[in-house]
Amino acid sequence: MPSIEELYALEILDSRGRPTVQATCTLGSGASGTASVPSGASTGHAEARELRDGDRRRYGGLGCRHAVANVNGAIRSALTSRKIADQAELDLCLCELDGTPGKGRLGANAILAVSLAFARAVSQERATPLFAYFASLLGTTPQLPQLTVNLFSGGKHAGGQVSIQDILVVPCSAQSVDQALAMVYAVYQAAAAISLEKYGMRALTADEGGLAPPFLDVDAMLYDAVAAIERAGLRPGTDVALAVDVASSHFYVDSNYLLDHARLASHGMIARILTWLDRYPIVSIEDGLAEEDWGAWPDLNTVLQGRALTLGDDFLCTNPGRIRRAVELRAANALLLKVNQVGTLTEAADACRLARAAGWAVVVSARSGETEDNWLADLATGWAGDFIKVGSITQSERLATYNRLLEIVARYDLPFAGGQYEHR
Ligand code: PGA
Ligand code: ZN
Repeated sequence: MPSIEELYALEILDSRGRPTVQATCTLGSGASGTASVPSGASTGHAEARELRDGDRRRYGGLGCRHAVANVNGAIRSALTSRKIADQAELDLCLCELDGTPGKGRLGANAILAVSLAFARAVSQERATPLFAYFASLLGTTPQLPQLTVNLFSGGKHAGGQVSIQDILVVPCSAQSVDQALAMVYAVYQAAAAISLEKYGMRALTADEGGLAPPFLDVDAMLYDAVAAIERAGLRPGTDVALAVDVASSHFYVDSNYLLDHARLASHGMIARILTWLDRYPIVSIEDGLAEEDWGAWPDLNTVLQGRALTLGDDFLCTNPGRIRRAVELRAANALLLKVNQVGTLTEAADACRLARAAGWAVVVSARSGETEDNWLADLATGWAGDFIKVGSITQSERLATYNRLLEIVARYDLPFAGGQYEHR
């Protein structure tokens, strides 16, 4: 049984230059693990609460000194020199110590940093790769995920030049992660050339590395994505399909969706999504409806059935309670899993278990504010995610995760989840 000998946190910066928390956990055995937490921008209301300092003179209020102090103070005092049976016991202690439903007292950022650092330390103590440790938490057989990679961005990650957030490419004919990455590279280069020719835009990128030319509307974004696949010499739908993160909570105003200069009620929004599906090889629709539009989600799930995944991000917030409700209502059939939306590994594992029990697909996802920490690659592999969503292939905080996937591929003989979701 591990005991925590030392806990130490510090404030570091994420890929947007905003503060976040990194923690190091050292066990009695001397094994040690360090982990950093990411941060979202297009966040859901039901997410666990990051603790930010609120001092506007420093990082516009986004400092994490209080969260860091909570790790180095209250959390360290409660946990050091204590035997901890396992991850579940640690995470429960952290939740109880916080004592609030949203983890806002100590900060979900402080809590997750400790939860992850402990995971790394225990995997080091056991001399197992991190993905194998994660697999042991869920009882899964590790598998490398299929990639979904940002190509074009809008919404909150790109200054809102178009309402929806991301068009992603899914290299569905790839037989391995490295083949998938090579295909994505070809499409990305073609998309950069199209952005220059059509919009006069150099390859300036959004928060997750997607290209962000001034598209006229969503159709133009989808059309250009297909053109990029063709220009790369690949077959749209057969070699490379599309996934759309509509992120519609962020343009849902007074029960209407403000999209492409139109004002759509829920059923108008569903009808609009269906027109995209009719025209383009789309295999997944993420947050096609707003997080509070519960009444319409079952209808969206019904019409997408057999055509594309109904994937919930802000809608579900990796929150077991929301997932249970969505399963009962048949409101979705895929979970976007972001550990910091819920705040501990154990709760994220519960979310994953619930989704799997309902027969859902699981997409393990990064946040728009990331660090160079690569634990997400191990999580997606250990929990046998169908897909991983990291962002594009141009920024080191994203590449840290892709490169870790490549390392896992090279060092371990694991199956690849690709090939399950080609466009029909
Ligand atoms: P976020 O965006 O990390 O800014 O929430 C990612 C996503 O919406 O999938
Ligand atoms: Zn999303």
